[in-house]
Amino acid sequence: MKEPVPPDEETVHAPHAALKDYYEGEQGRRTFVRRAFDETAGDYDRMERLMALGWGPWYRRRALVRSGLVTGMDVLDVAFGTGLVAREAVGIVGESGRVVGVDSSIGMLRSASRPLEIAGVQGMAEQLPFVSGRFDFLSLGFALRHMSDLSIVFAEFHRVLKRGGTVCVLEITRPKGRIAASVLKAYMRGFIPLLARVAGRHRNTAQLFRYYWDTIEACVSPERVLEALRHAGFQDVKRFVEVGIFSEYTARKPG
Ligand SMILES: C[S@@+](CC[C@H](N)C(=O)[O-])C[C@H]1O[C@@H](n2cnc3c(N)ncnc32)[C@H](O)[C@@H]1O
Repeated sequence: MKEPVPPDEETVHAPHAALKDYYEGEQGRRTFVRRAFDETAGDYDRMERLMALGWGPWYRRRALVRSGLVTGMDVLDVAFGTGLVAREAVGIVGESGRVVGVDSSIGMLRSASRPLEIAGVQGMAEQLPFVSGRFDFLSLGFALRHMSDLSIVFAEFHRVLKRGGTVCVLEITRPKGRIAASVLKAYMRGFIPLLARVAGRHRNTAQLFRYYWDTIEACVSPERVLEALRHAGFQDVKRFVEVGIFSEYTARKPG
């Protein structure tokens, strides 16, 4: 995979400020993220099931349908991981549709227990290995915080979508209330990394789940995400929030 050149750090519209406990600089962040997912890929599905208490597939499917995914669509799932969003998309688009996944981590792609209909390709959201105007629908599940620059990534999403195509970004966001935010933090930064030590097979799984929360806490506001989508040329830019923490950002490329 040919890596896109990291943007000049001065001009980065990063989803969060640098987290110096984990890496230094933009190149360091990319290497840290890639290595973290490569090394812990074998633990991902089990940890996701434990963390989401088994509701993950139901929620992903519901969010895709709510965002407008229907039978027959041609879908690109960015940050495919082990295929948890893509698998639900396959069930919705049916035999007349098609789902392709792209992820920067070869470890995650190899850990994907994907049904035959899903093709997984190694590549980066910042430089998608697809021709312009190809897809009806593009999803990005729980990976917005790992992107280097929202402007670059949303411009790429806009490029590969057909006219009238939809983008759907799923992400965990901090709840508004202080008590709810503290409870979620205790769960995600305290309990889940502890659980990862017991249930995970790789010693770095606990660190990845601590990083998970730290990126949520440091993430730019939902308004900045909506603004970046508009700036990239999308219309009908919206955010829907489920149970105060699951944000679905949807937008449409003008027809
Ligand atoms: C938390 S996992 C989410 C996987 C899946 N979408 C889901 O819903 O379970 C985040 C994924 O984003 C991928 N990723 C991180 N940065 C990326 C980038 N710049 N381009 C493409 N994939 C990236 C990681 O390799 C990892 O597989």
